[in-house]
Amino acid sequence: FGRRSLLIGAAAIGAGALVTRPLWYASGAAVEPQSLRIPALLDARALANSVSLEVQAGNTEFFPGRASPTLGYNGGHLGPTIRVNRGDDVEIAVTNRLAEDTTVHWHGLLAPAELDDGPHQLIKSSSTWRPRLPVRQPAATLFYHAHVHGRTGAQVYSGLAGVLIVTDNEERALGLPSEYGVDDLPLVFQDRLFEDGLMVLPEGMMTVMQGRRGNTTLVNGTPNAGLSAALQTAPDTNLPMMMGQGSRVWNLARNITGGGDEVVLRFEPTGQQDPAAPLGRLVSRQSVNAYQATKRRQFVLGMGMGGMMGGGIGSSAGMTINGRPFEMGRIDERVALGDTEIWEISGEMMSHPFHFHGVQSEVLSRNRGKPIARDAGIRDTVLVREPVELLVRFTQPAVRAPFMYHCHILEHKDDGMMGQFATT
Ligand code: C2O
Ligand code: CU
Ligand code: CU
Repeated sequence: FGRRSLLIGAAAIGAGALVTRPLWYASGAAVEPQSLRIPALLDARALANSVSLEVQAGNTEFFPGRASPTLGYNGGHLGPTIRVNRGDDVEIAVTNRLAEDTTVHWHGLLAPAELDDGPHQLIKSSSTWRPRLPVRQPAATLFYHAHVHGRTGAQVYSGLAGVLIVTDNEERALGLPSEYGVDDLPLVFQDRLFEDGLMVLPEGMMTVMQGRRGNTTLVNGTPNAGLSAALQTAPDTNLPMMMGQGSRVWNLARNITGGGDEVVLRFEPTGQQDPAAPLGRLVSRQSVNAYQATKRRQFVLGMGMGGMMGGGIGSSAGMTINGRPFEMGRIDERVALGDTEIWEISGEMMSHPFHFHGVQSEVLSRNRGKPIARDAGIRDTVLVREPVELLVRFTQPAVRAPFMYHCHILEHKDDGMMGQFATT
């Protein structure tokens, strides 16, 4: 363990679960492996901290000769990896070239709510939104994605998502692999439905209930992805990922398999390996003191019986939090800026990846007992069904706009499993 290999920022973005099945295309023949696509890098410092994103429609050949209509930032599908530095203020100009409204949310970024665009700051067709983001948090692998109310699932499904990396001096001092696209790789996992080689958008009641599910796991938009790299064999690694979760993984050098045993990213070791590379150390972090919590709130992520009779997105399937579907004009909770609270979240019928904007949290307990391995660390997204207690500190103001909390199965969110809080 600890040999130099790859640093991977991985994000499972979007809708359905990572359920994968063998990949078949057209005639029923297995598809040739394709080399992993690597999103372009926009290094904010190299651009004087002024970055541009154009939201655009495109056509993408996931399979040769089969062009699917898609959406992307600065391209036809997905977006560039944006790298920002702690301590900098980064202006991002987002121009919407679509025929429909969109928004861009910086998932995991700690910034005031009006900059952390949820559904409230619409970017109308042909207009530009220019937030100036103060980057003040430690190194982290975040992402950005569309967040327009009611259409988030569909827009993200079509490709409106990208990786956002926060780096800092502390991370640089670790000497981890850092050559973007070579030994420092972004990986975006997405479960998508293909018919006859074309990506199609699943609709209907089941997509609302379960989230959109597919038959193909894309990695950076690549089906059946392969990657040649100078690698070491890593120890057994098991990284459970869920929708809306980003992770920074070091030393991952094995084939990556999906929910079943299907390999979704195949590594082909090449070149020089360096068995003498030094053991790494990672940064330490400070835990929030649980005794500082001043208040306790409970949230139940609900899947109402309406779903059994619903007709799909647009006709509600009865998704709620604490019995109420999301309303843009209603502030559900008011918290005091600087306070620490305990939020207990539970979910009905299935596991839900609960996510909130503008905060990071730690899992205090799961099902009234100890947290499990996958709860460890600082998180903005936590899988819940059984009650999970989260320790949350509110450090970012939500005065000019509220922050959202929601299920990151985007179809649940779009159907109402979302609430919003403001700070006082
Ligand atoms: Cu990644 Cu409110 O979402
Ligand atoms: Cu978010
Ligand atoms: Cu959910």
